[in-house]
Order: sequence, then C-alpha cells, then structure tokens
Amino acid sequence: MTIAIDRALYRAPSLDTPARVVESTPPRLVLPGVGSGDWGLRNERELGFFGEPVDGPAFLAELERSGLRGRGGAGFPAHRKWATVAAAAGPKVVVANGHEGEPASLKDTWLLTRRPHLVLDGLLLAAAVVGADDALVYASHPEAVAAVERAIGEIRSAGLVPENVRLRVHLAEDTYVAGEESAVCQSINGFPAKPTSKPPRPYQQGVNGLPTLVSNVETLAHAAWIHVHGATEFASVGSGSSKGTALFTLTGACSSPGVYEMSLGRPVLDLATAGTMAGTMTGMLIGGWFGGILTGDHSALHCCYDAVRAAGSGLGCAAVTVLGPDDDIIEIAGELSAWFRQESAMQCGICVSGTNAIARAFRQVLSGSHDPAHRHNLMRWGTTTPGRGACGFADGAFTLARTAGAELARREENSSKGVLP
Ligand SMILES: Cc1cc2nc3c(=O)[nH]c(=O)nc-3n(C[C@H](O)[C@H](O)[C@H](O)COP(=O)(O)O)c2cc1C
Ligand code: SF4
Repeated sequence: MTIAIDRALYRAPSLDTPARVVESTPPRLVLPGVGSGDWGLRNERELGFFGEPVDGPAFLAELERSGLRGRGGAGFPAHRKWATVAAAAGPKVVVANGHEGEPASLKDTWLLTRRPHLVLDGLLLAAAVVGADDALVYASHPEAVAAVERAIGEIRSAGLVPENVRLRVHLAEDTYVAGEESAVCQSINGFPAKPTSKPPRPYQQGVNGLPTLVSNVETLAHAAWIHVHGATEFASVGSGSSKGTALFTLTGACSSPGVYEMSLGRPVLDLATAGTMAGTMTGMLIGGWFGGILTGDHSALHCCYDAVRAAGSGLGCAAVTVLGPDDDIIEIAGELSAWFRQESAMQCGICVSGTNAIARAFRQVLSGSHDPAHRHNLMRWGTTTPGRGACGFADGAFTLARTAGAELARREENSSKGVLP
C-alpha cells in the first residue's frame, strides 16, 4: 500500500496565525499586540536591544547563571558552547541556525519573519562574546530569508553592524538533515548539506575549517533578552534545569494551532488548553517527528527536558502534536516511518537499513499482517540501535519504532484478552 505523508494534523500551522502566550507565562519573545509590522528596529531599540557594549567574560558568566539551554533540539547548555568557541584561538565564525527542517515546527520561521532584529541582535552579541568576525543566518524559508535580509539592511544603515563583522544570509537546502550542525557547515563551505562524522565538531572545525558556534535562532533571541534583562529575570520562570520560556508549536486535535510562548516546566495541559484541545488526548508527538509517539493522555506531563526524557521522548524543538480519538497511532507511525526513510541522507548503513526496515514493518502491519515478528523487530530496533548514525537522525526513526512498537504490543495483549481496541 502507498502511505501518504502529508496530513494537516501534524504539519506546522500557517505563518499567518498570530503567535500567542500561554496564561501565567511572562511574554518575552512574543509580545501580545505587537504584530510583525509594528516590531521593527525602532521598537527593539526602545526595548533596550542593540548597541549595548558587551563585556565577553561577564556575559558568559551571566549566560551560565541564566541556565539557558539550546532550543535547536538537544538542549545543550548555551554557555558551554559559547565559552568553548570563545576560548579557541584565531578567527571564528557564528551561525544562527534558522533552517527548521522539522515539519511540525514553525517557531524559528516565526521568529525570523516576525522578530528578525532580535535574532540578529543575539547573533551580533554572540560574535562579540566569542570574538568572531564572520556571522551568518542560515535559513531556507523564502519569507524568513527576505525578512532577515531586510533587517540586515536596516541595522547596517543605522550603523549597528560593527565594521569588523561580515554579516550575511546563507540559503539552506530544503531537507531535514540540512539543519544538523555539521551539515550546516558543509553547506556554507559549498558542499551538499549532509552531516559529517565527528570529531571534529563545528566548535572545533566548522565553517572554513574555523571554530564555529552554531546556535539555534531562538537560543540567540533568548541570549539577546538575557543581555538586556539579566540572568535572574530569565531564570525567574522555568523548572529544575529547564529555565526561561520557550516557543512551542502546537498542532493536532485542537482548534487553535500555532506558536505559543510558555514557561518551561508547565504541563502539556496548559498548552493544550490555550490551543483549545478538542476531546480526550489519546496520544502525543512531542519534540516534533523526532520524538516518537507517546500513547495515552499526557496532559499532566511537564514540558521540561528531564520530564519529557523520562517519559521516553525528548522536548527537542518543542513542537507538540496532540492526538484525539479520531487519530490512529499506527497509521500515523506508518506515515512518519515513510518520511524517515525518504529524508535519510543515505550515508550510514544503519540509517539506510534501519529506516527502510522500520517503514517496511509498518507497511506490512497496515496492510493487515498480524505477524508478531513486526512488533518484536520494531521494539528490538528501537531499543538496541540508537546512537549509531553519524547524526541523530536515525535515532528519530528508532524512537518511533520503539514507541509505536509498544502500542502494537498493547493492542496484541488487548486482542488476546478479547478487549475491543
Ligand atoms: C537530523 C538533525 C536535524 C537538525 N535540524 C535542526 C534545525 O533544523 N534547526 C536547528 O536549529 N537545529 C537543528 N538540529 C540541531 C543542530 O545540530 C544543533 O544542535 C543546533 O542548531 C544547535 O543550536 P542550539 O545549541 O542553540 O540548540 C538538528 C539536529 C539533527 C541531528
Ligand atoms: S544517520 Fe542518517 S541522516 Fe544522519 S548522516 Fe547518517 S545517513 Fe545521514
């Protein structure tokens, strides 16, 4: 059977949908009432951004105190990456990663089109702190590229780009893996945007072979916010090791999908309520298509790095798709597995064979095969193979195999007990 992989259910919402703030969250990146047209250089300067001189070591200490973790997917502590690149000798490069290959996520494109100056402020701040004279915005969405180029023109005319900094946009390829940091550097270096084996990592040897800080655009926007408001204020919301607010992209069985700013550590229910979830939650995709499928009602799950990992998934880029009674988890798993097979960069044996085998197993199950070997294999691949590709992509497929395999096991058990699905 052919599996379609284009459901509106878990695709990112339209860019025209206004971003919102979840109740009880202090608005930081999404300012209610401030539309894209109103948010320009003048407003940002009035809010205190741009042009503030920066003391590099003092800001690194502030970044550490803030507890900011990267919003690109891995949640790595921002200050550790910044400090490593700052400590390297010689010329360096900084890259704002706004590629957003994750199909269920919109927050980076929203930031680049609606708050481009804020991202540029964070990027120039990073350049000053680590001592880079080459700064790039890496993006693929045409509206994002146009908005950033316009904003660069504005800040250049206003004399806000330091003379020693070469500030530019690099157009990314429209594939999922093009957003992985070594693929980002490959693309900027003029090669196909495919991940490379590590070491070296970009902070050791990236763009033009130089130490390169690749930071997600949302991480940079928070860094700019911290520069103005301070670490204490930043960390005044959040929980445990997940500080500050984050931009979530909500999709699925809710009547108001879109980008929402929410304090980390709040339950999924807060987000789902803001998005007007329809009916009971029967499952959830969290961290985008990368985090597998959690079955059942997870509205009480706290949206922080540790709790989501403990639930068997990952917060990733904070894309959340709530599933309702009309959504068949195995059908969705089949679609996502076909997408994983299609998007693999086909470089690592484990990724090529793994994504193929997972997609085939789901295809057979969806074609009516009740052979328990499919479930057994999916669980085995999902638990024994993670961490073996050159990039983390294959792990997304293995997480899907493990989580949807558990759902198959549940169905088999119910059917052996005569319980209706
Ligand atoms: C397959 C794959 C795709 C990725 N795609 C993106 C992406 O589109 N945007 C992004 O910011 N990070 C992406 N990442 C994470 C980056 O490799 C990198 O960790 C991130 O840009 C660093 O930013 P941060 O430290 O601010 O989170 C991806 C990672 C993997 C393994
Ligand atoms: S794990 Fe997959 S996507 Fe990543 S480098 Fe290897 S083949 Fe490419």
